[in-house]
Amino acid sequence: MKILFVASEVTPFAKTGGLADVTAALPKTLKKLGHDVRIILPFYSEVERGGHGIRKGRKSVEAVIDGVMKKGLFRHTSLGDIPVYLIENKEYFSRDNLYGTAAGEYPDNHRRFAFFCRGVLDLLKKMDFRPDIIHCHDWQTALIPLLLRREKGEDLFFSKTGVMFTIHNLAYQGLFAKETLAEMGLDSSYFTIDCLEYYGKVNLMKGAILSADLITTVSETYCREIQTPELGNGLEGVLGVRNADLHGVLNGLDYDLWDPATDRGLYKNYSATAPAGKAVNKKGLQKLLGLEPAADVPVIGIVSRLTAQKGFDLLAELMPKFVRSRLQLVILGTGDEKYLKLLQDIKARGAGNISVNIGFHPELAPKIYAGSDIFLMPSHYEPCGLGQMIALRYGAVPLVRKTGGLADTVFDEQDGATEPNGFSFEDYTPEALWETVSRSLQAFDDKGAWKKLMKRGMSCDFSWDASARKYEELYRLALARKGR
Ligand code: ADP
Ligand code: GLC
Repeated sequence: MKILFVASEVTPFAKTGGLADVTAALPKTLKKLGHDVRIILPFYSEVERGGHGIRKGRKSVEAVIDGVMKKGLFRHTSLGDIPVYLIENKEYFSRDNLYGTAAGEYPDNHRRFAFFCRGVLDLLKKMDFRPDIIHCHDWQTALIPLLLRREKGEDLFFSKTGVMFTIHNLAYQGLFAKETLAEMGLDSSYFTIDCLEYYGKVNLMKGAILSADLITTVSETYCREIQTPELGNGLEGVLGVRNADLHGVLNGLDYDLWDPATDRGLYKNYSATAPAGKAVNKKGLQKLLGLEPAADVPVIGIVSRLTAQKGFDLLAELMPKFVRSRLQLVILGTGDEKYLKLLQDIKARGAGNISVNIGFHPELAPKIYAGSDIFLMPSHYEPCGLGQMIALRYGAVPLVRKTGGLADTVFDEQDGATEPNGFSFEDYTPEALWETVSRSLQAFDDKGAWKKLMKRGMSCDFSWDASARKYEELYRLALARKGR
């Protein structure tokens, strides 16, 4: 099959979270299965700064935004043996960040990603590349299924192309004022209840859900959760309409990239069968971050976007308890101003057992996974979560809230798990979290049992193999719908 991945971030070109990991790792696995896979993303400043052997293409892309024809260059490179295409436009993509700053989203995100989506379709035609499947990810790419169904309905070029739309996070829907419709080059026929209209606003995610051939999300539990009012973010009704075409497929992890046996960023490599090097990484991390280099003090790690999604309200309430306890807490993250301030305050107070590291630091993250005994993800909701999978692989026992993909990957003995690999709690309260932290600290003191728990986690298989095969099947289903 010819499969085109369209995404707003892809590792190693541009990344703010797990989406980028997925849009690189799934294509790699599909390529190994024998498919012609290609990837397309915007040419941000971050991509340009990274180098990546990117070359200028001969074609340029065009799209009408704000009633004006905007142009952009097309560039290309590769990810292993996968062709990667990049759409350039200085006005829209030459900025410091991908989506916005700590103060908020860029106000013209609708224009930026409308240009990208229209540019993708324009480029495919100019290249004469007709994918069997266009696989779109999150709201930034939502216009593609919509345009293919509406504007290109009569267009034979795409008549046999199936469109898959994957929801990585339903809380980010691409919700904009009504006026943005025209700015994105869409006429008022799009502003109806069975298209983009949503309580008087434009909702791009809604349009994609209603027009894609198939819809997936990134874990089975999240797939069920988003069809309820609690986690449906107001789109549970729309998802209900497409219920028969909605599938939950658990993300995998790129085990070539995330492997403590080969990771060059670690102080010492180790594995499930030879785990001794983990202690060297713990000591290295403690020294690096100015913590007491004590082997018997448990290190709890967090590598996360700083948002309400990730449970930072619970952590904020529990901070005095963390400061007083016999543990070390290492946090790496960037995100909302509210939580940045909170962490900066903690840093300023100089608690000796808490290390706060603000920013997006891909070189520090593996050191934290490798140097931590416990990895904390007390998420309010979590579509899939890759952090806990990386932690498992690196022998940091995950402690998570039982929601979304966390519930599908972390199993607690207390719930009767026969092969436990971590700790989990249900109620989104500081009490429930602290009770579980205390339980994990107690377990840590039983060295023999802890080693067993850690090794079992390291031996879990959350690679992409099984899930990539599920996607293969779903692509075939989408194509069957097209009569192919
Ligand atoms: P989400 O996509 O919701 O942010 P995931 O758990 O799916 O959460 O994926 C997060 C990914 O981003 C992981 O690869 C994690 O290591 C990485 N990450 C998150 N925050 C940072 C940071 N501040 N520095 C480096 N890597 C980070
Ligand atoms: C989103 C979700 C996260 C998921 C990632 C990749 O960022 O918040 O849970 O792992 O996408 O699908």
